[in-house]
Amino acid sequence: MQLLQLLLPLLVLVCIPLTIAFEIQDTLNIIHDVDVIARAVRSHIEDLGAKTGDTDINNIQDNHNNVLEHFKAVDKLINQARMNYSHFGTHIVESISDFIVDDVLATIQINEITHAINKISMRYDQIVAYEARKESLEINTLISFAEWAALPSAESVQHSMERLGFTLFGRIQNATDFKPTSRILVNRIMKSYEESLQQRCSTRLSPQQFLYSLYAEIALIELKGYTLMEFSTMILRVSDLGNFINETELFRLNHKKRTEHALNVLRHEMQQADRSFWRCDPPEHVAKVTYDEVTRLLQGYIENEDGLNADRTCKRTCDAYQDTRVSGCISDSFCSSQPQCSGRVHDCRFIDSKMWVCQSPQMSTRRYEYIQYENGQDLGHRKACGRGTNKVDSWWRWLFWHCSFCFCLCDEQSTKSDRYFNLRETVSDVEANKVVTGVRIIKKNRIFHLQIQQGQLLPRGVINESTVHWKPVHDYYISGWNVKQGVDYHAMSYHSRAIDLGDVDNRNDVSFVVTGVQFVLINGKLKLRVVFSKFDFESGKVMGSDWLSIRTISGEQLNLQNLDIPTLSGASSKVLSNGYQHLKFVNTGVQKDAAQTTIPFIDIQDVVASHSTPLHGIGIYYKGTPGYGGFIAPKIINYDYSPHIGMPITQP
Ligand SMILES: *[C@@H]1O[C@H](CO)[C@@H](O)[C@H](O)[C@H]1NC(C)=O
Ligand SMILES: *[C@@H]1O[C@H](CO)[C@@H](O)[C@H](O)[C@H]1NC(C)=O
Ligand SMILES: *[C@@H]1O[C@H](CO)[C@@H](O)[C@H](O)[C@H]1NC(C)=O
Ligand SMILES: *[C@@H]1O[C@H](CO)[C@@H](O)[C@H](O)[C@H]1NC(C)=O
Repeated sequence: MQLLQLLLPLLVLVCIPLTIAFEIQDTLNIIHDVDVIARAVRSHIEDLGAKTGDTDINNIQDNHNNVLEHFKAVDKLINQARMNYSHFGTHIVESISDFIVDDVLATIQINEITHAINKISMRYDQIVAYEARKESLEINTLISFAEWAALPSAESVQHSMERLGFTLFGRIQNATDFKPTSRILVNRIMKSYEESLQQRCSTRLSPQQFLYSLYAEIALIELKGYTLMEFSTMILRVSDLGNFINETELFRLNHKKRTEHALNVLRHEMQQADRSFWRCDPPEHVAKVTYDEVTRLLQGYIENEDGLNADRTCKRTCDAYQDTRVSGCISDSFCSSQPQCSGRVHDCRFIDSKMWVCQSPQMSTRRYEYIQYENGQDLGHRKACGRGTNKVDSWWRWLFWHCSFCFCLCDEQSTKSDRYFNLRETVSDVEANKVVTGVRIIKKNRIFHLQIQQGQLLPRGVINESTVHWKPVHDYYISGWNVKQGVDYHAMSYHSRAIDLGDVDNRNDVSFVVTGVQFVLINGKLKLRVVFSKFDFESGKVMGSDWLSIRTISGEQLNLQNLDIPTLSGASSKVLSNGYQHLKFVNTGVQKDAAQTTIPFIDIQDVVASHSTPLHGIGIYYKGTPGYGGFIAPKIINYDYSPHIGMPITQP
């Protein structure tokens, strides 16, 4: 019998599209690429069917070689796809057992998955090896391999694929009335990942990205299994062992059902998954490398009442001076041996009459290392004093009036006070189809900037990794020609030092991506403004039309009173802001640090995930540890891929 006759019914079968719900055009790239390769596999099988019709059934060796030739072409595609997704990380499944340790059942299931993956991979590698030595193989070697792989048994590839799908995504459900279940493994993996700070810090992927990467690894394995099944069946067929039409039909149907179910589960889980990515504390806080500071915004300052009023009297108490200036200095008093506060003086209070003051080195942004009062109270951490302490005594004037030394806060714009925030807009090179992929805060010329990382957007939500770079920030000085406060930059002061916390996104519209950022000043408060551009998912083309967003509600104020220097904390920071809040830059605690440091500090680490995605939004948040001043930092919210999870539209 001619083989063609055997194969004809199969060819007809291939062309009948199976009815599948939720078919979409703009699928995620991994789904699209795998589908393209699976279709290539089927087209090779069809070709083989057509060709083997002419070949001699008595020369099975040639038939085998012919099948392996075609397999080789597919293997090349699969390898290419593996290379294309290699930046996703190759050991995602392995890494799961690192953070799911408390869940015994999940641990067992992960082992099962690993086992199934290894089995499929090993079989696949074996046929690759056979292909390489095809001229020197016994006919029976390939036949028994194909039987082993394709015929039903606990060792078959199909069985491994079923185990893999069942363990990870649960029992196959009818797509039309799909009901998510929370007990399935993929959901528990996602939840554990979300909660495992350590894993998120080291993997550097948002939970949604993690799921996506996990799926990419599984989908490529599934593709190998699928390819093996098709080619193994073909080997049996060209060995004249039957036509396996009904088996193939059943296998394809099951495969499609499994894929569809997996995609339904994946879409559901990805809709739930957190999409934000932020940086954990570095192993060690390093000034100007991992963090930077607003300096000398409000700083503890000792001044005698005599110098706090224009009349130079001592008729009142320290508390009376809440917003004043220094009017002068009595020559042999302490004020003559310290730099005078040239700005406004706020919030004065009386602590004790006599004290020893340890002044900081000239270059320091601190005024005092610590202050030791006669009544035993210390402000700041007492240590060896390099410049020697000054003894500071309050005095009586004509027996009636006590000229007390007050402890105040100095708000002084000087060369030692970096308190500036860039207000100019920063946008990505949209004309080169570049979008924002990451952000960080940097201090340049004493001005804090939100810097963007940008990359070329390719079709299906992919960023061209070789184009990703940091766009240089605006290079200007506050003293520059035509540079204006309130226009180009904001200078913080006692009355204007708040920053809004929270996320700025384009609500739920997945047709926009982030293409720019800006700090804006509204009612004296810094707010984040984000620029969005419309884009086409399938082609990746970014349109020019921009859509801007500023969050206008500003929630409650976080309390940063009486905290210590953030970098002195031994514990690692936790996110302490949630959603809509704001904070004011403030001095550290009077007792803890003599109010010498401005908090919070600013985390300046790069906020970029380990593989780039376009962004759905950007946020500013606050993190820290109890008792310490903490850090503010930006975070990114990756583009929502969940609407793009579905079966690709069946091609005619
Ligand atoms: C891999 O990426 C290249 C470049 O983007 C693309 O041309 C090719 O089709 C991809 N290959 C596969 C198998 O997905
Ligand atoms: C799936 O559900 C639909 C509608 O509820 C039904 O028509 C169809 O027969 C079901 N398919 C299977 C395989 O159960
Ligand atoms: C395939 O199944 C049909 C019935 O569903 C049967 O009539 C046919 O003989 C089977 N074909 C082979 C080759 O076993
Ligand atoms: C990615 O960027 C590189 C460098 O600019 C470029 O040569 C390459 O063509 C880009 N890839 C695609 C798929 O556009």
